[in-house]
Amino acid sequence: MSKSIMKIHHLTSVCSLVFSPCLSHPLQAVVGLDNGSIYCWDLQMGQRGQLGRLPVAHAGPILALDWCNTPGSSNVGDTIGADRSWIVSGGLDHTVKVWDLTTSGMSVHIAHQPTYTLHPSFFVC
Ligand SMILES: *[C@@H]1O[C@H](CO)[C@@H](O)[C@H](O)[C@H]1NC(C)=O
Repeated sequence: MSKSIMKIHHLTSVCSLVFSPCLSHPLQAVVGLDNGSIYCWDLQMGQRGQLGRLPVAHAGPILALDWCNTPGSSNVGDTIGADRSWIVSGGLDHTVKVWDLTTSGMSVHIAHQPTYTLHPSFFVC
């Protein structure tokens, strides 16, 4: 591991973070912000490594994140064989949302609407 440190600056607090479960891209990460936005980063590229974002994922701080992967199971259009991933986010707005995420090589595409939205009685942390 080199000693270099990459900094990524957000204009608001980072409340949650999850690294990619994909062994070929271990330095990709998704962060959940105080203001309800989700950003996906390639940490090796620092501030230039933004891979995708959801400006309005939640109506409040995102306190919980998970990222799971089903290798090679996507068959959407021309991305046959691409990894199919899910981002699960939960927060202070009393929702849990499941987002479809397609990774193909270095590119990441996050669906702009959640595939599922759950409405638990309490906020999620
Ligand atoms: C949340 O903050 C980020 C800055 O890090 C900004 O880009 C984004 O648009 C903001 N989202 C909302 C919903 O205001």
